[in-house]
Amino acid sequence: MSVIVLGSINMDLTTYVPHLPAPGETLFGSKFITVPGGKGFNQAVAAGRLGAPTQFIGRVGKDAFGAGLLEMIADEPVNINGILVDPNSGTGLAIIDVDEQAENTIVVISGANMAHDSREVARCRAALTTASVLLLQLECPLETSLAAAQAAREAGALVILDPAPARPLPTEAYQRCHILTPNELETEVLVGFRPRNQEDAAQAASILRERGVETAVIKLGAQGVYYQSSSESGFVEPFPVEAIDTVAAGDAFNGGLAVALAEKRPLAEAIRWGAAAGALATTKIGASSAMPTRAELMNLLAQN
Ligand code: RIB
Repeated sequence: MSVIVLGSINMDLTTYVPHLPAPGETLFGSKFITVPGGKGFNQAVAAGRLGAPTQFIGRVGKDAFGAGLLEMIADEPVNINGILVDPNSGTGLAIIDVDEQAENTIVVISGANMAHDSREVARCRAALTTASVLLLQLECPLETSLAAAQAAREAGALVILDPAPARPLPTEAYQRCHILTPNELETEVLVGFRPRNQEDAAQAASILRERGVETAVIKLGAQGVYYQSSSESGFVEPFPVEAIDTVAAGDAFNGGLAVALAEKRPLAEAIRWGAAAGALATTKIGASSAMPTRAELMNLLAQN
């Protein structure tokens, strides 16, 4: 039972502001933090903290941010031997604002994350072909992710693609991944309309499944999560928490989903694990720093 994540790692430079700045506006923020992030690495930390043996494959640049990241993540319960220090690219950066409503904006400078190539797949072939679950996102070149998906799928792993940041996907992406987990905005980019309720989400999920993915999971933020496979569909209500920072909540969801499925839990239960992990992530500041532990997850699940 193990999880492998091939994806991005960024240094997140996050400011906390009263409201998201308007064009031309200068704002006083209340706080600034520097934490390891990147959708890939956040998902790896979520899976690791939730108890799955987890390996992360990625790249940092040969610069101060890269060295800082490697130092900051050394104690996470994630195998990071697969991180390459790329002498030809800068480390990925994310410039993030979080407002008092816990909403955020994120600008990513990809750097080394977009330098992933077929060597990543060769480097992690052994792990890819023995893992139970492969987690992918869209902050690395799509060809590399799809090559990894094919290798893992052929070896019997479950492949979960988080289509974030939003972009249209080619047919192979739907065919090589078992589960797709878009949020509202990503769903709109994929199917052409934004799901506002369960009915819309069901329609969007059917469209995604017709394109070849086996299971569509539509994350509706504070409204909950809709899921649909060939044999079942359902809706998971949001967990009641006090949200202070929604950065990486979607990543926590995917980490929780992956661990539950790696443990062979039923889909409906795995969606609840994802939703609980996502909710818990909104109660703490930062990205990978906000990923919940297994004890926290079990506690929230037991209470609801
Ligand atoms: O999903 C949140 C993440 O998106 C941040 O950690 C940031 O690095 C960007 O990749």
